[in-house]
Amino acid sequence: MGTSHRNPFVGGNWKMNTNAESAHALIGAVTDRLKSSNAETAVYVPFVYLREVAGVIKGSGSSVRLGAQDFSEKPDGAMTGCVSLGMLKDCGVTSVLAGHSERRHIIGEDDALINAKTRAALEAGMQVVLCIGEQLEEREAGKTDGVNERQLRAGLNGVSKGELGNVVIAYEPVWAIGTGKTATPDDAQDAHAKIRGVLAAMYDQDAAVQMRILYGGSMKPSNAAELLAMPDIDGGLIGGASLKAEDFGAIVDATGV
Ligand code: PGA
Repeated sequence: MGTSHRNPFVGGNWKMNTNAESAHALIGAVTDRLKSSNAETAVYVPFVYLREVAGVIKGSGSSVRLGAQDFSEKPDGAMTGCVSLGMLKDCGVTSVLAGHSERRHIIGEDDALINAKTRAALEAGMQVVLCIGEQLEEREAGKTDGVNERQLRAGLNGVSKGELGNVVIAYEPVWAIGTGKTATPDDAQDAHAKIRGVLAAMYDQDAAVQMRILYGGSMKPSNAAELLAMPDIDGGLIGGASLKAEDFGAIVDATGV
């Protein structure tokens, strides 16, 4: 399927890293490093540093999006410890992650909750990066495509074609996240092409061709170019390497835009 419409997207998922001082320094270095790039970029920042990071982004005039790693599917009320989409909007957030494997497999979020979150975020006008991907045992049992299809169909259940403009898919094989192991470009391409095929079946060919599908899982400057050269890989969701502005910048450069 053609790639011509898809502007690359690279997100940096800071996870539970940084402190007040290093978050400030990192976003300063990232905005500086990305000055000449035309790729769409975002940073997914710990809640408590969002306002601080928002201030630096604003001051720099950068187009990097401010993102949150999680949020509640509920608008307000008795949800101790949770953060609402409205609160995130107040902080300047325009993009959120849903279904990250650490939330699925460590925190225990299921497909139904991830779907509720995805729908709530889209209703709130946020961009949603919906993360999917198989665990090692699933890959070894030949279930990769089945798991991806199930998570994709469940995550997007009830999402209309008209809302898809605010959706980005991230394929992140769980065994590759934070492990230094990366899917080979061919294996990743194969999974991405199949994911695009599922989107075509769920919606239509046009919707599938327009959807950005990111790869995530130990993407770094040394492997980004070969992954991003694949026809169905439209960017990356970067964990470890997003904590160094130079590495994150080099990956964004590898998109070629
Ligand atoms: P990693 O994380 O780049 O450190 O493997 C990717 C992610 O979890 O989004």
